Amino acid sequence: MVKHDGTDGLTIRPYRPEDRDEVADICLRTGAAGADATGMYSDDTLVPDVTALPYVEFAPDLAFVVDDGKRVLGYLVGVADNDAFIEWSKRVWAPVFAERHPEPGPPTGRAPAIPEELLIWVGLNPEATRIPEADDYPAQLHINLLPELQGLGFGRKLVDTFRAELAKRGVPALYLAVDATNKGALAFYARLGFHELPSSSPEHPLFGIATAP
Ligand SMILES: CC(C)(COP(=O)(O)OP(=O)(O)OC[C@H]1O[C@@H](n2cnc3c(N)ncnc32)[C@H](O)[C@@H]1OP(=O)(O)O)[C@@H](O)C(=O)NCCC(=O)NCCS
Repeated sequence: MVKHDGTDGLTIRPYRPEDRDEVADICLRTGAAGADATGMYSDDTLVPDVTALPYVEFAPDLAFVVDDGKRVLGYLVGVADNDAFIEWSKRVWAPVFAERHPEPGPPTGRAPAIPEELLIWVGLNPEATRIPEADDYPAQLHINLLPELQGLGFGRKLVDTFRAELAKRGVPALYLAVDATNKGALAFYARLGFHELPSSSPEHPLFGIATAP
């Protein structure tokens, strides 16, 4: 795998509708606690249908991608108001999701950290993303970069871009959930200054940060 050196035309730009398939693909290829989730679930569309596509449907204006001029290598998706996202998800996304993923498929022989039953349950139950600290941390994000883009500073830049956009809109803070086994992401968020929220637990880590320093 060839790493980009960070100077060869990589840019952060707003998400466009034609990026949708690439975003879904990146989500899948980094969707198992940062590792490739391809073939891990009975349906490769399941992970993006839970953690990426509803976000770009609901808030395309808060999604950002890293582009090398030919393709998308990473993205950040998020919402400014997670309560509103939950209500929209119940009304619009969950019914579509239920048709696409009516029940778990046959076992794949791999044992994902998040079992297929649980992932489908989350897709069907948007309330799963509601946190007790929502009033103080109304926004939420997901960030995923392909391996060749990692470690070049784009994760930090994407989070800074999202925070600045939220601050402009008057949103005070954001939260995110991390897979407890995703050590790289846990180190990344700590390095960026995220702090653990009161309702966080070792099994379900939750972190927050203000949008403006
Ligand atoms: C986690 C992720 C978003 C980080 O983005 P990145 O571009 O690789 O990180 P950056 O290069 O911007 O690093 C920013 C800082 O975090 C630190 N950091 C990043 N990854 C780290 C790791 N795995 N271990 C320790 N520190 C790390 C960097 O050293 C850097 O510190 P510095 O700015 O003080 O030098 C990215 O690696 C990724 O997408 N991973 C796969 C998908 C994933 O796990 N997503 C998160 C799901 S919750």
